[in-house]
Parts: sequence; C-alpha cells; structure tokens
Amino acid sequence: MSKNKLRSGIAGVGMYVPDKTVTNAELEKIVETSDEWIQSRTGIKERHIASTEQAASDLGVIAAKQALANAKISPSEVDLIIVATATSDMQFPSTACIIQAALGLNDVPAFDVTAGCAGFIYGLSIGSQFIENGTYENVLVIGTEVLSKITNWTDRETCVLLADGAGAVVLRPALPGYGLLALRLGADGSGGKHLLMPAGGSRMPVTSEAIEKNLNTLHMNGHEVFKFAMKKLPEAVEQVLMAAQIDKNEVALVIPHQANRRIIEAAARNLEMPIEKFMINLDRYGNTSSASIPIALYEALENYLIKPGDNIVLVGFGAGLTWGAVAMRWGM
Ligand SMILES: CC(C)(COP(=O)(O)OP(=O)(O)OC[C@H]1O[C@@H](n2cnc3c(N)ncnc32)[C@H](O)[C@@H]1OP(=O)(O)O)[C@@H](O)C(=O)NCCC(=O)NCCS
Repeated sequence: MSKNKLRSGIAGVGMYVPDKTVTNAELEKIVETSDEWIQSRTGIKERHIASTEQAASDLGVIAAKQALANAKISPSEVDLIIVATATSDMQFPSTACIIQAALGLNDVPAFDVTAGCAGFIYGLSIGSQFIENGTYENVLVIGTEVLSKITNWTDRETCVLLADGAGAVVLRPALPGYGLLALRLGADGSGGKHLLMPAGGSRMPVTSEAIEKNLNTLHMNGHEVFKFAMKKLPEAVEQVLMAAQIDKNEVALVIPHQANRRIIEAAARNLEMPIEKFMINLDRYGNTSSASIPIALYEALENYLIKPGDNIVLVGFGAGLTWGAVAMRWGM
C-alpha cells in the first residue's frame, strides 16, 4: 500500500425514500404471508414505495442534491455522474443523463452501471479510479431504485423483500492516509439465471404474452441467491481487508447491502465479528438494491456510528451474479 498514492474519499452523502410506507400487515392483505414470517425470515418490518409518477431519476436527484450540499459542492462543480440502477427510467437515455439534466448540468459525462445490488460498489470503484488518476475532482455516485415497478405483487417470495429508495455520495481526493484503501469486485455470470427480469430487453421484448406471464417483473430463486450471498459477503469482506492490510478487529463498521438480516448475521458469525459492527436498517427500508448501501451509510453518519479515522467496509452482492467490497478510512 503506497503511502503517497492519491486516494478518493467520500465528501458528502445523501439519501431519499418516497413518503409512502407499506408495512408487513398491509402486505398480508395482498398475498398469503404474515408479519411474523417476513420478520423472522428477513428482518423487514416496513418499506418505502414510490408513487406512480416517481421514477428512479426523481429519487436519485433528491439524494444527489443532499450529497452535494453535505459535501459543500455546487452542482456546477461536478465532473462526472455515475448512476447504479436496475430500474432505470427507460432503456435509454441513461438515468445518469436524465439526472445530469435535472441538476442543470451539461457537458459533464454521465453513465449508468448495471451490477444489481452490487451496483453502488461497482459505481464507487469506477468513480474512484477517475479521482485517483487525477482526471476528475468531484464525482457523483448515485444508487437509485424503484423496484416496486418491476415487482410481481402476486409473488409472495419477492414482493415482501423489494423496496424503493436512493442514496448518493460525492467522491473527492482525500487527505493522505484517508479515503478508499482497497476494493474487490467479482461476478459469476453462470448464476445470472437465479435473479433476473426476463422480458424488456432484446432477448425478449415486452409483449402482451410476456406481461401475462409476469416476465417483465423480477424473478428470483431465493434459495440460490441466499446461498450465494452467505458465501460471498464474508469472502468479499475478508479479501478487501487483506488487500487494505487491515485486521477485522480494526474495523469500526461494516455496511452491507441490506437484503436479509439472516444473511448479515451469518456473515458476522462467519467473520467472527460482533453483529454490532454491522449496520442494519433493512427493518425500515427493505431491499432497495443499489441504494441500500449509501442509505445505510447516510444513517450510520447521522447516528454518529462513524468518526474520522475509522476503518469501514462497504460490501454488496446481487444480480449478475455480482459482488464487491470497498475498505475505506473515513475522513477527507
Ligand atoms: C426469499 C427468502 C427470504 C426465503 O427464505 P427461506 O428461509 O429460504 O424460505 P424458503 O424459500 O425455504 O421457503 C420456506 C417456505 O416459506 C414460503 N414462503 C416464501 N415466501 C413467503 C412469504 N412471503 N410468506 C410466507 N411464506 C413464504 C415458501 O413458499 C416455503 O413454503 P414451503 O415450505 O411450503 O414450500 C430467502 O431465500 C432469501 O432471503 N433469499 C435471498 C433473497 C435476496 O436477498 N435477494 C436479493 C439479493 S440482492
């Protein structure tokens, strides 16, 4: 680990969730489920759901503006916009371009990243390269999702998990000794069949038949994804800590993708780390895919769970199948 290497740090964080909350009791009215089952199998109590008018960019813009304000950066200073999303406003243009226009910017590059629930970690990793090689100074990385729009509300195995929200960070060059210390990304395309939306792309355009079969909604083999997450989450944390040369006892907080409390608890056991060192807020937000890590990071900061100099790990896993982890020393 070179001491003089320019590193990227997080200068500001923002989040936004739609006003409407849906409790487990409300879901009991639309599918055969129970609050007891959802809480004991996932840890989720309620989630936020977008209005019919709200698209991914609408949520992302609000989170981005808050991240910029917290970083004390005006939108005009942004050099690059990266948006991680699996629920883009439309196939094209990218949601990043839509957000760029909504922020009143032109000329700055903007693009989307598709890496499922690991999308934010992929976006952060890409954005940090531009900071570290000196190309850009202010990079906006946004994770935004309206999973409710691709949810099959008759499928109890998925509809109780998925939710809407957005989180954003501003990356800037960090002071020596702070910022992103190491990253690890991975993918296993052979597992893609376990978590997908079959229709809506060039393989299977949306037809009335596809709609009838709900193929334009998220399909998941929960058991396979569970097994994958149970293996990859602790593995990714271990690998990134090794790359950063940090002992797990020196970690102040792990901020994992918020999919299922049991996955996070198992990772804590596997890593022999206390569960208190894992940020968990999925009880109130459900699984917001690429937005879950920046939302959890925002709340960790709000609750003073991170202070300057702390070592933290962000870790995600999801459709692809993909995974990724970042180790950082907090502070600028
Ligand atoms: C989906 C998930 C919560 C299911 O939990 P599980 O403990 O594995 O439960 P199972 O799939 O074994 O199902 C157990 C039973 O509960 C039933 N069940 C599934 N969803 C239910 C629900 N919402 N309410 C009540 N019962 C439900 C199943 O039909 C099954 O019934 P059966 O035994 O009669 O066949 C779990 O597999 C999971 O979290 N997977 C990962 C999902 C994920 O994180 N996806 C996103 C990754 S980014």
